[in-house]
Amino acid sequence: MTYPAATGDLSAAPGTDPQYERSAVIDLAAIRHNVRRLADAASPAKVMAVVKADAYGHGAVPVARAALEAGASWLGVAHISEALALRAAGIEAPLLAWLHTTESNFAAAVAAGVDIGCSGWELERIVAAARDQERPARIHLKVDTGLGRNGATLESWDQLVGEAMEYQDEGLLRVVGIFSHLSVADEPERPETDEQLAVFREVVAVAEDAGVDLEVRHLANTPATLSRPDTHFDLVRVGLGIYGLSPFEGQTSAELGLRPAMTLRTLVSQCKDVPDRQGVSYGLRYHTSGPSTLALIPLGYADGVPRVATGGPVRVAGRTYPVVGRIAMDQMVIDVGNIGPAGADLFGAEAVLFGNGNDGGPTADDWAVAAGTNNYEIVTRISPRVPRRFINESPAVGRSAAERSTAEQTAAPHPGAKAMP
Ligand SMILES: Cc1ncc(COP(=O)(O)O)c(C=O)c1O
Repeated sequence: MTYPAATGDLSAAPGTDPQYERSAVIDLAAIRHNVRRLADAASPAKVMAVVKADAYGHGAVPVARAALEAGASWLGVAHISEALALRAAGIEAPLLAWLHTTESNFAAAVAAGVDIGCSGWELERIVAAARDQERPARIHLKVDTGLGRNGATLESWDQLVGEAMEYQDEGLLRVVGIFSHLSVADEPERPETDEQLAVFREVVAVAEDAGVDLEVRHLANTPATLSRPDTHFDLVRVGLGIYGLSPFEGQTSAELGLRPAMTLRTLVSQCKDVPDRQGVSYGLRYHTSGPSTLALIPLGYADGVPRVATGGPVRVAGRTYPVVGRIAMDQMVIDVGNIGPAGADLFGAEAVLFGNGNDGGPTADDWAVAAGTNNYEIVTRISPRVPRRFINESPAVGRSAAERSTAEQTAAPHPGAKAMP
């Protein structure tokens, strides 16, 4: 039997809005809660909410607003283009962008009052942009204390500080910050965090001796914010934690007082009874071991679900089933067992790949295990094809009436949905 029957006996389609077919539901109350939790941990240091990569897939503008409302005082992104998008949305908070190329638009950053991370090579270009805009640039010097990615080398540090100070004296820029990034803070037992911290203290001292008057020194990411108060300095840069996810293996979000903000859900789009030894999906890597019912889950790797994550959990009608067979571009399959006509009840039911886990349901951490990756990647890679649906938006100041009404419509329940989270 196939549900709905091929005769087309389905009386009415449950809805026509794509966000009810499949969505990443973003709980902005969870974001606000997490920011408050991290701000408590960081205090008296301030919080920079890291909203790069579309807020790790959660939606940069709504997340940035929620984070600021809950007490974050800075925003951080990788690319200047991401910063400009936040400014274009009317967000005026202090904002830092730290990863550039020779094609980065430093002039636009200066014009928009975006602080610029500077590892060294950018300095001349930033100065040229400041001249062009007739406005001093605000820069944060980035030092590589051991991660081996961007940031000035220790050998080049004195010279970089000296050159930056000369430009500052000329009124072309202001060195407002010094920062670095930790490499193993998610593994608190490792010694390298202490080593990076010691180097960071030294380079800050060198700069201060050279007369740099800093607004902010910043080093800590989420794991360091939660486990290493000695790394907090004036500002912590937190990403993963504001999305409610744990950076520590073996420690859950709940144990850290965090609430996962993203739920990835869709509707079961077909259920059918199949015989013993039915092969499933490309490559026929899975065969049923008896007559069974297969439920089709209309999400796939084009939606950002990792193709390698066969076995990843899907929650339907209060039970969790592993994905069987290969995950395809648009769809995947769960084998719900030999349930016969009960398959009709599953057709159209909500299918949750991951959420806050409160009801014992699957989490992004489970999918990270299935895919052999981390929870950062699971949420961040959910593709733009999946509509984001924002819930628990608070009536924030500064949004236009038109924006508010869109948000309210977005948060409204839909008559056709069986059980939206
Ligand atoms: C420079 C920098 N700071 C802070 C963060 C935030 O890290 P986390 O998400 O672990 O809090 C990132 C993220 O990768 C980063 O690149």
